Amino acid sequence: MKKIILDCDPGHDDAVAIMFAAASSEIDLLGITCVAGNTTLNNATLNALKICSFINKTNINIYAGCNSPIKRKLVTADHVHGKSGLDYEGEDINIQKGYKIQKEHAVDFIIEQCKKSKEKIYLCPTGPLTNIARALTKYPQIANNIEKIIFMGGAAKTIGNITPSAEFNIFVDPTAANIVLKSKIPIVMMGLDVTHKVLVDENVIKDFLSIGNKTSYFFKDLMNFYSKFHKEKYNTNSSPLHDPCVIGYLLNNDLFDLKFLNVIVEEESELTMGKTIVDWLKVTNREANCYVADNVNVKEFFSLLKEKISLLP
Ligand code: RIB
Ligand code: CA
Repeated sequence: MKKIILDCDPGHDDAVAIMFAAASSEIDLLGITCVAGNTTLNNATLNALKICSFINKTNINIYAGCNSPIKRKLVTADHVHGKSGLDYEGEDINIQKGYKIQKEHAVDFIIEQCKKSKEKIYLCPTGPLTNIARALTKYPQIANNIEKIIFMGGAAKTIGNITPSAEFNIFVDPTAANIVLKSKIPIVMMGLDVTHKVLVDENVIKDFLSIGNKTSYFFKDLMNFYSKFHKEKYNTNSSPLHDPCVIGYLLNNDLFDLKFLNVIVEEESELTMGKTIVDWLKVTNREANCYVADNVNVKEFFSLLKEKISLLP
């Protein structure tokens, strides 16, 4: 069983990552830490409470983290996820009675868990890396007890999705990304190169609906809203399921092909701010510091996700 902390900014795809992790008996989900990104920190924590209430997993503790990036002004993605950060057509979710955000700050929770755990912990960030970077800065020794950081973010060979050169999570907090990338901790980058291959369309939604549980209907409602942006913006009938790739890798790393490369993030130029500069052809003498995901077995990924979603209420 892998001990993990899921650090997220729910967010529609973060919501599916939470379901994926919570349903998996191979994962010991120590807690969910929330960060500002897709939406404000308040919305993100509220959405996390709602998602865990919906799937009857209120035994999972949720922590509020950083409400803004380390240096830059917060940029949110209301255009994708809506004003609440988790808009969808359907009844609002009632948070289970007494289910509240923990008092401890997410950064302190991450530090405390990494300090006390008898076995190394996996950190699984699916939003801006602010909480992770703050924890590593506040207490660098925790690096010795982190098995791996598997993050959703960046773009090695493909174009950006928030600017022509940057992926959203890294764009929001490029300083945090460089702190993580320089930490010498084993790191896996689930960038747009693979997440743009994991596409939810009508057929996937129909297939998941065949599960027939209430979570499959929630998945449909979330994806129907999430697909609106992609339809209007790119005139496509499919939407990338970014964040669950992190959990998919954790459950079965054979689903992905990785390349060990140097990755560094642009923090100076406004034009290319947040670009992950990946030394794909090894033309610099910069040391490799990150396993960059280059390909994914999409069919196997969705069959694993469907199997786990079917275990939920
Ligand atoms: O660029 C995609 C990433 O940004 C995903 O994690 C999505 O949830 C948003 O946070
Ligand atoms: Ca996210």
